[in-house]
Amino acid sequence: MRIDKNILFYLCLIIIKTSADSDAPCISRDYGHGSVVCVCNATYCDTVVSTRPVPFQSVSIYSSTKSGSRFDFGVQKLFGLSPSINTNPTVITLDFEKRYQMIKGFGGAVTDAATINMMSLSAKTRENLLRSYFGVKGIEYNIGRVPIASCDYSTHEYTYLDTPNDFNLTTFALAKEDMDYKIPILKHIYNITAKPISLYASSWSAPAWMKTNDNEIGRGWLKGQAGDEYHKTWAKYYTKFFDEYKKHGFEFWGMTVQNEPSNGLLTSCSWQCLGFTAETERDFIKTDLGPEMHNAGYEKIKIMILDDQRMFLPTWPKIVFGDKEAEKYVSGVGVHWYWNWLVGPTVLADTHNAFPDKFILATEACNKDSPGPDLGSWDDGVKYSNDILDNLNNWAVGWVDWNMCLDINGGPNWAKNYDDSPIIANATADEFYKQPMFYHLGHFSKFLPEGSVRIHSSANTEGPLKFVAAVTPSKQTVLVVLNPSSDEIPITVMGKPYSFNYTIPADSIQTFTWN
Ligand SMILES: *[C@@H]1O[C@H](CO)[C@@H](O)[C@H](O)[C@H]1NC(C)=O
Ligand SMILES: *[C@@H]1O[C@H](CO)[C@@H](O)[C@H](O)[C@H]1NC(C)=O
Ligand SMILES: *[C@@H]1O[C@H](CO)[C@@H](O)[C@H](O)[C@H]1NC(C)=O
Ligand SMILES: *[C@@H]1O[C@H](CO)[C@@H](O)[C@H](O)[C@H]1NC(C)=O
Ligand SMILES: *[C@@H]1O[C@H](CO)[C@@H](O)[C@H](O)[C@H]1NC(C)=O
Repeated sequence: MRIDKNILFYLCLIIIKTSADSDAPCISRDYGHGSVVCVCNATYCDTVVSTRPVPFQSVSIYSSTKSGSRFDFGVQKLFGLSPSINTNPTVITLDFEKRYQMIKGFGGAVTDAATINMMSLSAKTRENLLRSYFGVKGIEYNIGRVPIASCDYSTHEYTYLDTPNDFNLTTFALAKEDMDYKIPILKHIYNITAKPISLYASSWSAPAWMKTNDNEIGRGWLKGQAGDEYHKTWAKYYTKFFDEYKKHGFEFWGMTVQNEPSNGLLTSCSWQCLGFTAETERDFIKTDLGPEMHNAGYEKIKIMILDDQRMFLPTWPKIVFGDKEAEKYVSGVGVHWYWNWLVGPTVLADTHNAFPDKFILATEACNKDSPGPDLGSWDDGVKYSNDILDNLNNWAVGWVDWNMCLDINGGPNWAKNYDDSPIIANATADEFYKQPMFYHLGHFSKFLPEGSVRIHSSANTEGPLKFVAAVTPSKQTVLVVLNPSSDEIPITVMGKPYSFNYTIPADSIQTFTWN
């Protein structure tokens, strides 16, 4: 009987392996940065399918490695009652009873730069790019961050209200960038996705005439104080933005009050910014933004505070939420990753513990270790997955990347603040490159759909492995394991009632899923 079952399992395996091979593999290219990129063009792009039929009582394994595997698929038999004696030295134990936060999702930003780059490709290549992010055979993003007017990742500075003293917003108008790039790309994304998309908006600078320094850049904040015509107009500017996007069919899930409000308090701010302290952000929400969102019928849009480095936790939310009138308008706290070396991720858990009804979302991250792309850098991918793991294990409900696509110089960026991105477009060749960052993010985004719930997971030893476990709405168990070390590590995973052995390859990330 037992032997028969095993034969059946391996027979199934052969059939599945054969059909899996029809999945489009990575066409790799090595630029000498430690690992490879996968090259896509108008007629070819690698895919990943997560809905393969698998034999009864087996675990599906997707593995990506520095040595070049990208979502390589395998299945392995689960064995019943946990082997309490015969285990590998490293044991990861899941506890389905201990449940934590519900996942909102993963995504990236629809900046001017990202959408200009996407539009620089032919229609078919662009289709492959957007399917890579949002398609059922892609990494299935469900969140998009939309800048309100320009930021550094624009070709020039602009806002939607550049006519001085237009307090009635009569000249408010979306820009060419919205019409020609962002809105067409968003429409395309909505066409491709099988999942509901949640958009959130963030602004970088108010019009110069509304600011103390009469400039979109540099140290400056709104003139006057909360409740006056500058603050009322600035709140109306946001609801006008939502009105205009609604005319094009887009309803927003959320917004941040201001991108990196601390940046506008610094003279060194060298691209669009607007300064708020925790106190002025609190007062603006309470007196202007909150009431205006309600009056305009946007009370369902989730307002997030901070949208800045986690070193401000938990002080910033304590100041805003200390005022019940401000607190009632706010749903969450947005965090960026740029100064993470200053404070550990436990400040996120501290914030959650202090304010358990407010969610925490990682709202922006990108690699800036060298100006422009390091094509194929595995280390940059590890930085992504490492930070996603830190965030999820400290109560964050999701993780949103910065630009979804940059050009081969890491732009365009009028302020020359060039960064890296998971996808780099080469318009000259009409192709794009999917970097290790793309796959590291995908190991989470594809397998942890909205509504998944994190469960407790722990290891018996202090080792280099980092991991997170969750249960999806369709009751699949998902375990993501990062191995940032150059040693392979045999593990035993104990999850009631099943367990399995697996040898985690050196320099790798894998997602395990089972029913
Ligand atoms: C697109 O990529 C495929 C696979 O690498 C290749 O066979 C094909 O020639 C490429 N097409 C163009 C136009 O470069
Ligand atoms: C799991 O690995 C351990 C250590 O190598 C071994 O003793 C045990 O038999 C393995 N279990 C199964 C079911 O393969
Ligand atoms: C602005 O709106 C107010 C109130 O509706 C109105 O009284 C005023 O005339 C308007 N000003 C301009 C310049 O349109
Ligand atoms: C969306 O899909 C429809 C039907 O396939 C198509 O007619 C339309 O052009 C698509 N729109 C975009 C923006 O891709
Ligand atoms: C971009 O494409 C052009 C034309 O094929 C090629 O010469 C150039 O090397 C490519 N750039 C990169 C970074 O691959």
